[in-house]
Amino acid sequence: MVEGRRNLVRVEEVKHLSETFLFQNYSREDVCFERGKGEMLYDPEGNEYLDLVAGIAVNVLGHSHPAVVKAACEQAGRLVHVSNLYQIREQALLAEALASTMPPSLCRSMFVNSGAEANEAALKLAVKKTGRGRFVSARNSFHGRTSASLSATGQPKYQAGFEPLLSRSFDFVDFGDAEQLKAAVTSETAGIILEPIQGEGGIVVPPADYLRTARDVCDEKDALLILDEVQTGLARTGRMYAFEHSGIVPDIVTLAKALGGGFPIGAMVSSDEVSKAFSSGTHGSTFGGNPFVCTIARTVVETIVTDGLDKRARDLGERWISELRSLSPEKGVTEVRGKGLMIGIEMPEAAKEFQRYAFERRILVNVCAGKVVRLVPPLILSENAVTRFNDLFAAFLSSRS
Ligand SMILES: Cc1ncc(COP(=O)(O)O)c(C=O)c1O
Repeated sequence: MVEGRRNLVRVEEVKHLSETFLFQNYSREDVCFERGKGEMLYDPEGNEYLDLVAGIAVNVLGHSHPAVVKAACEQAGRLVHVSNLYQIREQALLAEALASTMPPSLCRSMFVNSGAEANEAALKLAVKKTGRGRFVSARNSFHGRTSASLSATGQPKYQAGFEPLLSRSFDFVDFGDAEQLKAAVTSETAGIILEPIQGEGGIVVPPADYLRTARDVCDEKDALLILDEVQTGLARTGRMYAFEHSGIVPDIVTLAKALGGGFPIGAMVSSDEVSKAFSSGTHGSTFGGNPFVCTIARTVVETIVTDGLDKRARDLGERWISELRSLSPEKGVTEVRGKGLMIGIEMPEAAKEFQRYAFERRILVNVCAGKVVRLVPPLILSENAVTRFNDLFAAFLSSRS
């Protein structure tokens, strides 16, 4: 049965097979990619697409980065998985590498397989550490699809049909409103969980002192500050971690997406003191931190640092955001916002139409929150790609006037 289907070339054939055998829980574009190189993807017919989605903020080094390919091939030939029953050299080395990118207090890591799992672990850790069971989260947030991470997600559309979840454990506040945040934290609050910049919610940047307020209120109430850096972490916003923009240090940071450069891995990072709430057997993961994925993640982290991709994202992003702002007065663009290479163009009437327009011209962008064109490209993005996008965007806007 499988023979003869292996070399599916036409997207229609792949689509038919998908529609026959896969759960139908994703809306997919009618395209299928065979290979990628740098910022480009190629379909089986050899058509080239400029990738400004990067697997939704995942492929920070672009596709098939030579260092990642080398690390993956060598490690696959040596050792892939053993389990956390044993000392794992590659895991310890990755934890050391991550610690070197963090403020000194954030020196301990635990590895899982995704962003949702990292947040799940962080919420459990905060409960265990504080002995309290309530959390404050933000409306319009996104923290994942597992029970606790979905409960923390402040968007009813993702929770619909799965209630009550852990709804009694979460209090929601408007993102960016410092007064609401202060009022919501009580002596029963184990922690506040926030994205430093909301991603899925539409690239929403809070006021500059918002995380400082979150830090202060947590200190005052002995609660833990959990920052979900699954989308913002590892240089995306022009700093290694988005919390660096605000000058505060959280108690727990969660990472995923960029960390594996496309291979599935998540991490929870905390101080030594907070980490002690988990002891042998308190929490675990079969695959979490296996030698294969840890070797790749360490290569990704080291390459980001060595190549200065935080600075690259900062410089390129700053310029791009201001160019986009100057391109878009009126004409349906209500706001251009973001930091580094995490950019949102809010176009309530035209975001989806622009996505299609770009797709037809072989440039991939993604729409989030229904009205925001999200640009989260590889951090190795060329200046040429930015110019190509700007020309396309300008042409789209003038086609509408
Ligand atoms: C901020 C944030 N947290 C958590 C998640 C969930 O990550 P995953 O899909 O790897 O479980 C996402 C995914 O988009 C995210 O953007």
